[in-house]
Amino acid sequence: APHSETTLRVDGKPHTLTVDHRRVLLDLLREDLGLVGAKKGCDHGQCGACTVLVDGRRVNSCLQLAVALDGSEITTVEGLGTDGEELHPLQRSFLERDAFQCGYCTPGQICSAVGALAEAASGHPSHVTDPAAPSGEPVPLDRAEIRERMSGNLCRCGAYPRIADAIEDVIP
Ligand code: FES
Repeated sequence: APHSETTLRVDGKPHTLTVDHRRVLLDLLREDLGLVGAKKGCDHGQCGACTVLVDGRRVNSCLQLAVALDGSEITTVEGLGTDGEELHPLQRSFLERDAFQCGYCTPGQICSAVGALAEAASGHPSHVTDPAAPSGEPVPLDRAEIRERMSGNLCRCGAYPRIADAIEDVIP
C-alpha cells in the first residue's frame, strides 16, 4: 500500500512519520505515538469517543485519514491544560462534577466540549440556536445548546446531566 511522509504537530510536538494512506488519525495517535487518551468506541464515526481537535476544530479521529492532515496541529486530551501539568478548566470541572462513570467516553467528551465552546464563541449556530439571534455574535450556551452541541458524544453510563453541568461551570 502507498505510504507518504506526513508531518503533524501533536500537543505542541512535531512528528514526521511514514504513513500508510489507509491509516486513520486515531490509530496513529494510539499505536504510533502512544497517546491513548482518544478511545476507539465504534470506529465508525458514531460515538465520539475518539474526538480530538485538528487546528482547533473537533473531529472524530477514527474517520480522518492521517496523510490528509499533513501540516495540521492536533490536540488530544493529553495536550489540554498547561504543558500537561495544570488541568484544563474543563478537565477540572469534569472531575468536580463527577461527570463520568466508567470514563471511557470522557477524553472525547472533553475535547468535544473544548470545540463546542469555541464554535459557540465564534457564532457558529446549532440546530437549536434561536433563528432570531444575530449571526456572527457569540451564541449563548444554555442547556439545550449544550445538549445539542454535545449530541455526537455518546455516554453509555448516562452521565449526560453531569457532563452538561461540568460544561456549564466553565462558561464565562
Ligand atoms: Fe470514532 Fe466512535 S470511535 S466515533
